[in-house]
Amino acid sequence: MSISSSATFLSPFFFYFFFFSLCPLVFSQQSSNQTSTMITLSQLLNNTASPWDITRQRDPCSWKGVQCTGSSVITNLSLSGFGLVTSDFLPVVCKIGSLQALDVSNNQLSSIPNEFITSCGGIHGLKLLNFSKNRLVGSLPTFHGFVGLEILDLSYNSLSGKIGLELDQLDSLKSLHLSRNHFDGSIPTNLGKAKALEQLDLSVNNFQGSIPEQLADYGNLTHIDLSFNNLSGFIPGRIGELSKLEVLILSSNNLNGGIPANFSKLATLSRFAANQNHFSGSIPGELTRYLKILDLSYNKLTGSIPPDLLSQPNLQMVDMSFNLLNGTIPKDISSNLVRLRLGSNSLSGEIPSLTCATLGNLTYLELENNSFTGMIPQQLSSCQNLTLLNLAQNYLTGSVPEQLGNLSRLQVLKLQLNKLSGEIPSQFAQLQVLSTLNMSRNSLAGSIPSSISNLQKLTNLNLEGNTLSGTIPNSISNMSSLIELQLGENRLRGTIPMMPINLQISLNLSSNLFEGFIPNSLRRLTVLEVLDLSNNKFSGEIPDFLAEMKTLTQLILFNNQLSGDVPKFGSYVSVNFSGNPNLRNVTTPNISAGSTNRKKSVAVPIFIALGAALLTLGVVTVVTLAISRRFYRVNDEQLQLGGDLPSPQVIHGNLLTANAIHRSNICFTKAMEAVADPLNITLKTRFSTYYKAIMPSGVSYFIKKLNWSDKIFQLGSHDKFEQELEVLGKLNNSNVMTPLAYVLTTDSAYLFYEYASKGTLFDVLHGSLENALDWPSRYSIAVGVAQGLAFLHGCTSSPILLLDLSSKNIMLKSMKEPQVGDIELCKVIDPSKSTGSLSTVAGSVGYIPPEYAYTMMVTMAGNVYSFGVVLLELLTGKPAVSEGMELAKRVLRYSAQQDKWDHILDFNVSRTSITVRSQMLAVLKVAIACVNVSPEPRPKMKSVLRLLLNAR
Ligand SMILES: *[C@@H]1O[C@H](CO)[C@@H](O)[C@H](O)[C@H]1NC(C)=O
Ligand SMILES: *[C@@H]1O[C@H](CO)[C@@H](O)[C@H](O)[C@H]1NC(C)=O
Ligand SMILES: *[C@@H]1O[C@H](CO)[C@@H](O)[C@H](O)[C@H]1NC(C)=O
Ligand SMILES: *[C@@H]1O[C@H](CO)[C@@H](O)[C@H](O)[C@H]1NC(C)=O
Ligand SMILES: *[C@@H]1O[C@H](CO)[C@@H](O)[C@H](O)[C@H]1NC(C)=O
Repeated sequence: MSISSSATFLSPFFFYFFFFSLCPLVFSQQSSNQTSTMITLSQLLNNTASPWDITRQRDPCSWKGVQCTGSSVITNLSLSGFGLVTSDFLPVVCKIGSLQALDVSNNQLSSIPNEFITSCGGIHGLKLLNFSKNRLVGSLPTFHGFVGLEILDLSYNSLSGKIGLELDQLDSLKSLHLSRNHFDGSIPTNLGKAKALEQLDLSVNNFQGSIPEQLADYGNLTHIDLSFNNLSGFIPGRIGELSKLEVLILSSNNLNGGIPANFSKLATLSRFAANQNHFSGSIPGELTRYLKILDLSYNKLTGSIPPDLLSQPNLQMVDMSFNLLNGTIPKDISSNLVRLRLGSNSLSGEIPSLTCATLGNLTYLELENNSFTGMIPQQLSSCQNLTLLNLAQNYLTGSVPEQLGNLSRLQVLKLQLNKLSGEIPSQFAQLQVLSTLNMSRNSLAGSIPSSISNLQKLTNLNLEGNTLSGTIPNSISNMSSLIELQLGENRLRGTIPMMPINLQISLNLSSNLFEGFIPNSLRRLTVLEVLDLSNNKFSGEIPDFLAEMKTLTQLILFNNQLSGDVPKFGSYVSVNFSGNPNLRNVTTPNISAGSTNRKKSVAVPIFIALGAALLTLGVVTVVTLAISRRFYRVNDEQLQLGGDLPSPQVIHGNLLTANAIHRSNICFTKAMEAVADPLNITLKTRFSTYYKAIMPSGVSYFIKKLNWSDKIFQLGSHDKFEQELEVLGKLNNSNVMTPLAYVLTTDSAYLFYEYASKGTLFDVLHGSLENALDWPSRYSIAVGVAQGLAFLHGCTSSPILLLDLSSKNIMLKSMKEPQVGDIELCKVIDPSKSTGSLSTVAGSVGYIPPEYAYTMMVTMAGNVYSFGVVLLELLTGKPAVSEGMELAKRVLRYSAQQDKWDHILDFNVSRTSITVRSQMLAVLKVAIACVNVSPEPRPKMKSVLRLLLNAR
């Protein structure tokens, strides 16, 4: 929210300069000199993107990025994204005395030469300097001259140190952007003696101390963004004197005290965000008199919500979640409100009967985790724009209003953990775009309406912990989008109908009254990961096909009446069949109740409508799907002994690495022999199978087979895939697993990586080596993974997003050197670029950020969430999901109570010393910020890394 704003700050200014200020100044006598300067410059630049070539285009004014006046005098130069590495050319630019704007953003410059400052400082007409998104290091240069400079953008660099008088001579400075650097010390107050400053963005740095009240001397300030620093203390009341202030963003600092009452007098202020601080006291009255957007979430605000807070007609978004507010929700709510978040407070009373005749725009309503009582007001059904309704974890009673079925745009409905009774309204069948329905842990009775199968977009259905009776309707098999079905702890009986074929996360029928054989139709669930049939009366044998289900990682059968022999399950499946007295276990002892050999799924619920998508796969056609089924069985345990299957047919192999040692080691033939033998499998994940291959030289490599015939790979052709790999192969970061080579075969792709001898972080943390990692190793792994991710997110061309980040995709070269793997997945399985009816939820269970459920988009913030879960694993020693509960959610419950944080930490590690403990607590703070339920407040990877380094 706060950070991306720098671009929007700038745009009106750019617009102004590019389109309106070109005419007035004329220096016509300079133009022949300028041509020679430009020729010199063209020779210095590596502008391969659009070569400046005097022999092809004689007039430099027609060159890319050059703008001139009508009389051919150069005014603007944009060298953005020219691939510039060295700064030698900069002083030459200053020979263009008519220059008004210079943009060198998006390059790899590491310094601003002194000569540039001295010579360009003399250009009185220079109004804009943009050095953002480079690699500038060191401290801020002191700007002399530059009397006309209005906009200075140095954001997205690595500048550091304190800021004193360096900018004080910039008398015309109106817009200063220093966000995303490593500046520290206190907030600078000498920003031009003339005090002309209008926009100040210092977000995402290490600024400390309190907000200086001298900022109020800059009476023309309209935008202030100080978010994501280490600021402490109060908001000075004088800030309220800034009579032109429009945007004030103070998010994610350590500020405390109250929200100044005089902010309500700022008639220009439209956006105020002070979320994630330690503000306390009550919300001042009239605060929203002029505001459009107010975010005070994650503070310690107390008292009740002032009666007028939500009624102001200008108001669009209010987020007060995660505070200590009590009392009731005011009755009077503005009709323009789009988003209202009041979750995780201590609010009580009834939910007001909002009628959307007046609340036309309400789209997101989140009131979860409060103490609301009474019924769900049926008037909510008039809110036709409502997309998300979360009333979970309150004390709501009565039946669920059938009128909610009229909310035709509803995508997420969460009513779990209340005291709702009555039946599931059959009108819910009209919720055509609903993707998540959670009504678990209520007192709902009656049967599951068969019309529920009309919910063709529903992906997650949770009705667990009610008193539902009757049978599961047969129509359920038509719910082709469903990936999770939780029906445990009800009174359902009868036989189990055909289940929706795309079920993946879980099919949970535990603690009901089911009986009869385990149905054969479950065989069709080829992507299912968790099957829980425990606490029923199932009888007969455990069918063999369960042992052949490729993706199953957890099978829970305890307390039934099963008999016969237990089939042999793969070592990666955790099976619990205790409490079945007539069952004979003739297989290896590692399959037993409460097996520690549990490898939690790394699965990604990706489900697509096959058809058209597959036909476009080029070389990989539907025919190869059939072939691949045969190959795929290579992974089945039963076939392990007869390992002499033919090696895959190589279409094409290519070395990506420039490293001569790897190039001489890698032997494609040897590699293909290795992958033909299932004994070489070292790891299986949802998308890939890792083999260890020993090359003729004796050196081992990982060969990763992408299970790409598995319906999920959206390759247009091999060509595109090869291009993507070429790009990924050039990445150079010691914490990222970059492909060294690849081989394409008729039905698969094989990627070569350096061998990581210690296996995955998951195995080291939760496997047999449990507790093998001391704190220095854990910390070093945390920093390493953060470095890898920050690198991937910061890739200049376009950030590389991870589809599936989990401790299973982090390989360890040593106990201190992690490598982030599976970086190619998002490129290969590109959900956004695919056409047709692909709907994707990416990630592994336990690592999936909550917003993916309805945004259906992989984002950087989503990756940050998954990384936060990995941090929590390192801190707690617990896996991402245990006892049916996600680690992140478990920890977030404590997040408000810092005094309880100690209990979260892995005691075996935290007890080693006081220093270790305090470092762990500091890292925990970072982890909690990363797993924030909403994506906007999560820190970006670069600042996560910085915060981690500071935690030492
Ligand atoms: C043109 O360039 C010459 C040297 O290259 C310099 O002496 C002269 O001052 C310049 N003239 C103008 C008008 O900039
Ligand atoms: C152009 O590329 C060469 C070689 O890569 C490099 O030495 C030089 O510094 C580059 N020049 C600029 C202006 O980046
Ligand atoms: C503040 O803005 C006004 C109107 O744009 C302008 O006249 C005035 O000079 C500015 N103040 C300073 C100190 O620059
Ligand atoms: C709300 O909390 C305050 C303390 O923060 C307390 O004084 C007040 O009585 C509470 N009001 C209600 C309605 O619970
Ligand atoms: C809703 O939003 C639209 C524009 O987004 C606005 O024109 C309208 O006045 C708002 N209020 C209501 C009640 O529809």
